[in-house]
Amino acid sequence: MGSLLEKFAGKIDLIYIDPPFATGADFKVNNEIGERGLEVEKEHTALEEKAYRDTWGKGFESYLAMLHERFIALRDLLSETGTLYVHVDPTVSPSVRLMLDEVFGSGNFLNEIAWCYKERERILDFYNPKHDVLLFYAKKRDAGRTFNWKEAVEEYSVVTRAKFKYKDEKGDYQIRGRNVQGSPVRAADGLTPEDETKYPGLTYRDYLHERAGVSPRDWWEISIINKAADERLYYPTQKPEELVKRIVGVSSNPGQLVADFFCGSGTTLATAEKLGRRWIGCDLSRWAIHVTRKRLLGIEGCKPFEVLNLGKYERKYWQGITFGESKRDGEQLAIFQYIAFILKLYGAEPLAGMQHLHGKKGKAVVHIGAVDAPVTIDEINGCIEECLAVKQTELHVLGWEWEMGLANLMVEEAKHRGVKLLLLNIPREVMEQQAVDKGDIRFFEVAHLEVDIKQDKGCKVTVGLKDFAFLYADLIPEEVRSKIKKWSDYIDYWAVDWNFQNDTFMNGWVAYRTRKERKLPLTSDPYVYEKPGKYTIMVKVVDIFGNDTSQVFETNIGH
Ligand SMILES: C[S@@+](CC[C@H](N)C(=O)[O-])C[C@H]1O[C@@H](n2cnc3c(N)ncnc32)[C@H](O)[C@@H]1O
Repeated sequence: MGSLLEKFAGKIDLIYIDPPFATGADFKVNNEIGERGLEVEKEHTALEEKAYRDTWGKGFESYLAMLHERFIALRDLLSETGTLYVHVDPTVSPSVRLMLDEVFGSGNFLNEIAWCYKERERILDFYNPKHDVLLFYAKKRDAGRTFNWKEAVEEYSVVTRAKFKYKDEKGDYQIRGRNVQGSPVRAADGLTPEDETKYPGLTYRDYLHERAGVSPRDWWEISIINKAADERLYYPTQKPEELVKRIVGVSSNPGQLVADFFCGSGTTLATAEKLGRRWIGCDLSRWAIHVTRKRLLGIEGCKPFEVLNLGKYERKYWQGITFGESKRDGEQLAIFQYIAFILKLYGAEPLAGMQHLHGKKGKAVVHIGAVDAPVTIDEINGCIEECLAVKQTELHVLGWEWEMGLANLMVEEAKHRGVKLLLLNIPREVMEQQAVDKGDIRFFEVAHLEVDIKQDKGCKVTVGLKDFAFLYADLIPEEVRSKIKKWSDYIDYWAVDWNFQNDTFMNGWVAYRTRKERKLPLTSDPYVYEKPGKYTIMVKVVDIFGNDTSQVFETNIGH
């Protein structure tokens, strides 16, 4: 979130966040594989495990510390007229409220809204907890926030409605007295048709449909998403669009910027998109980002959007590593131990005096990625620079996670610069003492993709997927893995940018599986270039766990 401040400080009009409640269960996801819908539960990735430890490692205290840091960033991101909704459950809401009062100022607290639902009733020895809490704050109470209350107007009570007991061609009405001085029926309601006849100039028909309605209350009855609902994405903590629609409708105007920094399945972003707002979403989990991406693509007329990696990428040092059992008598020592540990498992010798290059294995120099952040393009570029400076031509980079879309792109780039680059995953087993002791550790190459580009006469091109190496097979239980017959079952989504410009990937053609449609075409629709020439085609594949693999292809179209 900190990385957004540079560009968006003071620019966001509405923030809704639904951070994980203090359980950590949100990281687990169930997903389907291939066409036959085999179910698999994905385990935590290294990054998620680190975040989990950061958030709940020291119990509630660390959970609150994680939120506190984010609340400060939220306040700075909000515009002067902006508002914030923090969605929590009643067990944590008192502490969160105190913290928000401190960060935003208690005078900027507007409401505590109860979101009430009735589903999944249980018999307990205390009252059934059937509401969540939304803490509603203004950045500055009197700065003129957006509050379109008519977007959430409530129905009149049965008693009020019953007063509109007469009907004509325009609708239901009651008869009221005009506010005329001296009138015997001045401002009276509940008058009869006889009164109307008797005082024609002093009465009027008060129509129900002309009334503005009741201003929204601070408790909302909205059902949770039911099993058969179209919007259901099987994301365990998904919230109903109806709930978020109310928030976005009331507290923002079309064209304004809405953000959700724990976006999960993308409910806020999808709702904002449908209501014509601009939006920003973040989530730590790749799976969440992937579910959100597909959800947005499924919205008719969805405007173009980018998926970016944000985070601690600028870090030059291995800050805050909490790895293994190492006693931390200083951060540097812990980092040194971590690097030495991974180098040893990889069979490499440590290398001293370098900034990015940590070891040497045979002819190759080795770089070890941080345990709590993905390896980035910048980081690899730094390694390549150093290789060139010390005349090394083979580089192995070992990482836990990778900046989205990095792999094949970097290998090609390194090749151009005369360095043979190998990207390898650090397997989860390095955290298991037993596997380490047995020497059972294998480092797998980062996903690889084979593609066939066919050119017809003229400038017509199709892209076909030929092979895909799925890296995370070891995260899938053996009984499920043995039933998977085709490499393509591991692919959940793929897309083609027909004219990649070395910056943002633009979806030119996209195919993905949904819960309803499990089939995935492996050949794209044809694309016709306007004129012959050299073009870079980029193909992006997202696997069933939300990991991106991208590859670029230089083509000479029409020749
Ligand atoms: C309760 S869910 C949000 C659900 C969402 N409102 C929806 O409708 O789908 C919380 C989300 O926070 C994400 N998360 C947990 N810790 C995080 C962190 N430290 N930074 C960013 N996202 C985090 C989880 O991956 C999860 O998707």
